[in-house]
Amino acid sequence: MILSDSTSLVDIHSHLVPGVDDGAKTVQAVLNAVERFTRLGVRRIVTTPHIQGSTTLQTHRLEERLEAVTVAFDRAAVAIRAEFPEVDFRRGHEVLIDVPEADLSDRRLRLDGTSFVLIEWPRLQVPPGTPRVVRWIRDQGYRPIIAHPERYGGMVNAVDVASRWRAAGAYRQVNFGSLVGRYGSEAESIAFRLLEAGLVDYLASDFHGHATLKIYQSEACAALEARDASEALDLLCRVNPARVLDDQEPIPVPALSPGRNLMTRIRGMIKREMA
Ligand SMILES: [Fe+2]
Repeated sequence: MILSDSTSLVDIHSHLVPGVDDGAKTVQAVLNAVERFTRLGVRRIVTTPHIQGSTTLQTHRLEERLEAVTVAFDRAAVAIRAEFPEVDFRRGHEVLIDVPEADLSDRRLRLDGTSFVLIEWPRLQVPPGTPRVVRWIRDQGYRPIIAHPERYGGMVNAVDVASRWRAAGAYRQVNFGSLVGRYGSEAESIAFRLLEAGLVDYLASDFHGHATLKIYQSEACAALEARDASEALDLLCRVNPARVLDDQEPIPVPALSPGRNLMTRIRGMIKREMA
């Protein structure tokens, strides 16, 4: 592991509030997941259950949902404190932007109550007008981080699309698994294209807490180490996620050099085929 201080790793995208979404179902599953994160050197976790933007526009439904998440989060947090006192467990949400003007004013919707909010587009597609939506969120005083831009369909011109998001004021978070083919070769290719364009601000797990799933952090780090990207890696996994908790903008991440890109990916594909 090339990261300079692996004990201070921060993960800003996961589904570890038990029983509220398609992530971990029980407190025990959360504890198992946290144990795996600690072995990877992660000490701070901001977990991000799914919520729909349309829910934020219905006061009663929103309150019900946030209350249910709070109760489940608190149960997990108590268990984590008892078993892993070294872990700082916090929360936010992953807000599905199914309406253009979600109400993000409740601090529980944002990452640890900061101005940062993790958002995703519906049905893993990029709808028309996303830069306008990003700009609207910024105008409300919040800083959107777009979850896994590499995973959306219709991202043929991924660099152009992500550049427009950046210009509108959004940050981009790539999943660890995307760098090693977890979501297919298209997502892997887009993830690297975005890194080569310097358009990624954070890496995170998007871990759903199931025993059969992998977190892919070490595999992703190895893929970047193979590209001599130690400075970028440190910013993507440690410095910038920690800055979210301090409500500070990410430090721009240097573009990954395209040099050994193709060969590295081919070697990775061969290795996975043989595994
Ligand atoms: Fe997610």
